[in-house]
Amino acid sequence: MDKPKVFLTRCIAEPAMQQLYQAVDLEVWEDENPPSHAAILARAAEVDGLMTLLTDPIDRPVLEALAKKGKVISQMSVGFDNIDIATATRLKIPVGHTPGVLTETTADFAWALIMAASRRVVEADQEVHRGIWRHWGPGILLGLELTGATLGIIGFGRIGQAVARRAAGFNMRVLYYNPHRRPELEKSLGVTYTPLDDLLAQSDIVTLHSYLSDETRHLFGRANFEKMKPSAILINTARGQMVDPQDLLWALENKKLGAAALDVFDPEPIPAGHPLLRMPNVIVTPHIASATTQTRIRMAIMAVENLQAGLKGERLPYCANPQVYAK
Ligand code: GLV
Repeated sequence: MDKPKVFLTRCIAEPAMQQLYQAVDLEVWEDENPPSHAAILARAAEVDGLMTLLTDPIDRPVLEALAKKGKVISQMSVGFDNIDIATATRLKIPVGHTPGVLTETTADFAWALIMAASRRVVEADQEVHRGIWRHWGPGILLGLELTGATLGIIGFGRIGQAVARRAAGFNMRVLYYNPHRRPELEKSLGVTYTPLDDLLAQSDIVTLHSYLSDETRHLFGRANFEKMKPSAILINTARGQMVDPQDLLWALENKKLGAAALDVFDPEPIPAGHPLLRMPNVIVTPHIASATTQTRIRMAIMAVENLQAGLKGERLPYCANPQVYAK
């Protein structure tokens, strides 16, 4: 029997590539840059399965082409806002994603940014590299003390909770905001549910851990920056579109916000020469919160499991649109 045809939009971790070469008739996009929409569309009509990344625009035309014979989309990421999920569901295409396996890694990185921004690590490093360091100074590069500070977590799913667990080591007051209150976790994690406006007003650090949705898109614009402490630090390892970049610039320039550390940006990558890149109190990293060797292998293998289940017509073990199975 012929092997099912699959298009994979970038090389992924080796163990997963080996599984794929054995199990399917694979075409891989070898370039380091993502394929264009046209390149994905051209293949969508010819394959049984698509394996995608969060940089791939999987819109209605791609899905309609895939629906001709395709059985599954398997994406190697936890977020899937690049995929038109409503159309995939309408066309009965299950979409796989990779929740859980990147939780701890992403929480670690959120903490790397929390610590880097609060103690001004990047600024300090650059000063030393540029030869500016002359002597120890009582007022040089003073930062925010984490012990006793208030951490506000927006989005209290797996990653938000993992960030909260790490905060216990710093003796912080931890507030969270989530569309659904999670009373069962409040005692064990030592966190307090706080309405969004109060969380913004009280937090020294606000860290974002929600999915991108109509409710969270540009949630951080002028109105919400106005509610924050002028010394507050914003951390974004979730999705760039949760923060309006123009309004962020406005907030930093007008001292409505103390600093920002962003692993994600709107648009991504951040355009070269963007004024935020000139600000010493802004740290920007290239969407690497889940980037450890171990996690990327786990994500890739999970994505292959989803793909294989979908190709066999079985329920995906990690499905982003389980409604697709509703009778
Ligand atoms: C990364 O941003 C992911 O959604 O996995």
